[in-house]
Amino acid sequence: MRDAAPQTIYLKDYVAFGWQVESVALHFSLDPHKTRVKSRIAFAPDRDAPAQPFFLHGEALKLISATIDGKDAQATLTPEGLTCAVPDTPFVFEAEVEIDPANNTALEGLYMSNGMYCTQCEAEGFRKITYYPDRPDVMSVFSVTIDGPHPVLLSNGNPVGTTTHHAEWHDPWPKPAYLFALVAGELVAHTDSFTTMNGRDVTLNLYVRPGDEGKCAFGMQALKASMKWDEDVYGREYDLDLFNIVAVDDFNMGAMENKGLNIFNSSAVLASRETSTDTNFEGIEAIIAHEYFHNWTGNRITCRDWFQLCLKEGLTVYRDSQFTADMRSAPVKRIGDAIDLRGRQFAEDQGPLAHPVRPESFQEINNFYTATVYEKGAEVIGMLKTLVGDDAYAQAVTLYFDRHDGQACTIEDWLAVFEEVTGRDLTQFKRWYSQAGTPRLKAEETWTGDTLTLTFTQHTPPSAATPAPQPHVIPIAVGLIGADGAEVAPTRILEMTEATQSFTFEGLAARPVASILRGFSAPVVLEHDADHPHLLAHDTDPFNRWEAGRTLARNTLTAMMLKGTRPDPAYLAGLRTVVSDKSLDPAYRRLMMALPSQSDMATALHDAGHVPEPDIIHAALEALRDAIATELTEVLPDLYEDNLVIEAYAPDAMQSGMRALGNAALSLLTRSDGGTLAQQQYDAADNMTQQLAALANLIRAGRGEAALNAFEAQWKDDRLVMDKWFGLQVIEADPEDAHEIAATLTKHPDFNWQNPNRFRAVFGSLIMHHAGFHQPSGAGYRLLADWLIKLDPVNPQTTARMCSAFQTWKRYDTDRQALIKAQVARILATDGLSRDTTEMLTRISNA
Ligand code: TRP
Ligand code: ZN
Repeated sequence: MRDAAPQTIYLKDYVAFGWQVESVALHFSLDPHKTRVKSRIAFAPDRDAPAQPFFLHGEALKLISATIDGKDAQATLTPEGLTCAVPDTPFVFEAEVEIDPANNTALEGLYMSNGMYCTQCEAEGFRKITYYPDRPDVMSVFSVTIDGPHPVLLSNGNPVGTTTHHAEWHDPWPKPAYLFALVAGELVAHTDSFTTMNGRDVTLNLYVRPGDEGKCAFGMQALKASMKWDEDVYGREYDLDLFNIVAVDDFNMGAMENKGLNIFNSSAVLASRETSTDTNFEGIEAIIAHEYFHNWTGNRITCRDWFQLCLKEGLTVYRDSQFTADMRSAPVKRIGDAIDLRGRQFAEDQGPLAHPVRPESFQEINNFYTATVYEKGAEVIGMLKTLVGDDAYAQAVTLYFDRHDGQACTIEDWLAVFEEVTGRDLTQFKRWYSQAGTPRLKAEETWTGDTLTLTFTQHTPPSAATPAPQPHVIPIAVGLIGADGAEVAPTRILEMTEATQSFTFEGLAARPVASILRGFSAPVVLEHDADHPHLLAHDTDPFNRWEAGRTLARNTLTAMMLKGTRPDPAYLAGLRTVVSDKSLDPAYRRLMMALPSQSDMATALHDAGHVPEPDIIHAALEALRDAIATELTEVLPDLYEDNLVIEAYAPDAMQSGMRALGNAALSLLTRSDGGTLAQQQYDAADNMTQQLAALANLIRAGRGEAALNAFEAQWKDDRLVMDKWFGLQVIEADPEDAHEIAATLTKHPDFNWQNPNRFRAVFGSLIMHHAGFHQPSGAGYRLLADWLIKLDPVNPQTTARMCSAFQTWKRYDTDRQALIKAQVARILATDGLSRDTTEMLTRISNA
């Protein structure tokens, strides 16, 4: 049986809670199956709030007792919570409940992971710990005591007294329940310290399981760099004596910003040269920064309700991108973000799951931690900054911090500080928050006399979420390049507000080449018939120079598939020139060499009115790689040799870029040498980046077996490395074998399917293997459906997220559509399917 009729929650129905929570005291007696939680909560009526019955959220709790001012509360219980009569004056609610962390496989609330206790309360997990008004606009000061068998007993804030098996914590900063955290375990600390800009000494701990001590140093460095950066760039100082991070093996997402006690998926914090790739290092640095930055954008200022999620997530993603751009290469970061946005967010925005950056309804909020809320939410902040300028941005953000510290806010509050500082009316800009869908921006040029006129037309395709989209405010960064390759006009921001609008560039000596949407200045699809080879050779904007190459690659792939043409010689020659240019950053040259993904090409074909055929896309990409390998024959050996890093390993931007470029050369060289060089690199590798790249190439060359066995023998006791071993075999499989390899891996003794990282290693990789997942037999769809049905009762949140694999079904041929729809229907028909998965699949199939 499914949950009783799923309830839809609407933004327009927001009502403030009727009471202030003056203080919260919690006591935990930890036990795997019978943890007791005692709470003492001081409530006072909020005279400004509408009258309402007293209701506390609570799920899967065994109530032992509940009192109001010491007398039995005579509570009425429902599956969602508790109601009781309360006085019209301040009162104290006390309760004792029993919970079962050892059987909590959903990893939400208090649960166990490898014998340690930990919590995940965002978004609505606190109600699985005790009865409480579990909503972000209820903020209070928490005191926590813990009795437990473990040496390390942690909660939020500052420690106020700890004896053996007993700990007391006090968090002076009012917070919503979703930021509560508790950890208890046999843990060891990697300790350091940071002195803030006002001289406050902060102790920093990274807690890990014994054996992982050697993987802490990088995360700690990243934390200190983040703390410094937030002081330097945003003037934000840390506000407690202690900052703790804990690594946990079983975790649904990347990490969580609980006040003073961040909890991380171990994959998002543990790093070492031997076990982590350069990509892992960069990701860890960004996630540490992200969670740390939430201390101000999220914790000190939080969200009024979950519809405002982008208020903290969009802004915090924007801040962590700025951080990475400062720590590494800004153009490389921007290109990476654009690739990611197009791959994940555009797919979401153009399919049945499309929703605005600020959604207006949901059934299960966990389903709205999406690329749209996070990544498009960050793009919206970037556009705002482009429109108002850096100084006004800084002033507005400072005003936001000053005015709203300690509050639970809305997007209206955020936009108001920008309106006040700049005098602008942001009514139209706000459509970026309220309208779903990716705008398409068409650019046309006319040249008369000495004037170039650019005429833009914007159109956002209607969707179920936004049936009649209105024009957006679009900042369009434009520069002009002369026929000789020199810049004729530097970047200028055109502010488009109409459906169709023209802008002129006057006094030009000769017709220039327009470079439009520089730096990817808005999250739109640009249609512009530009001189791409000229821009690839000469654009002074690094983003658009890369973009020109990407457009040429996409165009030539499309022509190869639809017209059977040979790869475009202009693209190949342009690529050779850029890649051979040693004055360019290796990481940038590496991005130039990368081709659009198979699913990018499926999107491109669909956009052009064709039905994508995954096997043909796969074959076209292989053919283009062959052509590139041939074109670069003379260059590749040098490209490889020059980028073999010989100095001591560092995961910094320069070395990472060199290794990435060298490994891009390796994969092209492997196409003709049968894997000789890859084997050599595998045998010599002293870091995971080189080892894993070599292994991937050996698999592709059809001689991976020995290396895979050696790799397994070497790393069988390291979970995070074994995740790579599981994933790589699926990713590198031939399309027709991918599902079978995945199925075989599920029989491996180390396939702990209840661990989200391991489940994602196999099935996330299968989903990412476009041609493999979409095999015409439908075997990929069936296998995924089998496992989602199995996982749903255990972990609905992770199951629901993976359902997005089916969101693109409408793009494909009718046979595939029928096969996908059949699997979606089969999952939906499962008895007791979770609310999370039901909502996702219902939205997908209602397209
Ligand atoms: N707030 C977290 C972040 O972005 C996201 C998160 C971590 C989360 N765990 C979660 C969201 C579980 C929902 C459920 O930094
Ligand atoms: Zn976040």
